[in-house]
Amino acid sequence: MKNTSGTTEQKRRAGESAADLVADGMVVGLGTGSTAAHAIAALGQAVDSGLDIRGIPTSFQSRQLALEHGIPLTTLDAVDAVDIAIDGADQVAGFTLVKGGGAAHAREKIVDAAADRFVVVADPSKLADELDYPVPVEVLPDARPTVADSITDLGGDPTLRAAERKDGPVVTDNGNLVFDCDFGAVTDPATLASDLSALPGVVEHGLFVDLADEVHVGLDDGVERRTR
Ligand code: A5P
Repeated sequence: MKNTSGTTEQKRRAGESAADLVADGMVVGLGTGSTAAHAIAALGQAVDSGLDIRGIPTSFQSRQLALEHGIPLTTLDAVDAVDIAIDGADQVAGFTLVKGGGAAHAREKIVDAAADRFVVVADPSKLADELDYPVPVEVLPDARPTVADSITDLGGDPTLRAAERKDGPVVTDNGNLVFDCDFGAVTDPATLASDLSALPGVVEHGLFVDLADEVHVGLDDGVERRTR
């Protein structure tokens, strides 16, 4: 489930602003989605001009984009550290996020959490005082009914994400299914995050609690950088 209100220019400014933070020799987590794609494109241009980096993609999409833009790739098990990760978000409140609109949140969370510096790129439509965007929950297919019941018990309303150009559900890069779970206003994201993580069969949820170090918001006339 995607919020598509931001403009391409806003997303481009945010992505390019974050890409500017990348320096020679860095290992870079490459996020997923339309905003992170601008950062990947900017990094590709920099690599073309001689920047020496290695990228760790967070999805099939970001891997393909990185390859198209000539960014050398690596994996978490081949590096000592991830210097920086640049990734989009579906909603941002402070430094806590809802992610997973592109169903990539499991790999995104692994890479973003591993990074020394996690920079979120967003347009103004993503900003909120309190999170209320439906929380994506990736589940093992066999766990679909039990997880749906448990999410309802937690006060959520789970909807199995349907594919748009395929009959049936979205299947993640990991071969799993996704529930978009409407909890209304999430007043205590940390507790909801740990409750969701505790459910058998849940692979990962899209609450990234206090994980971001910076948020770069692309505006019509510049970039607002929010730092801790
Ligand atoms: C991918 O699963 C998501 O977490 C994306 O990072 C998120 O949906 C933001 O994407 P856009 O930049 O396309 O809005």
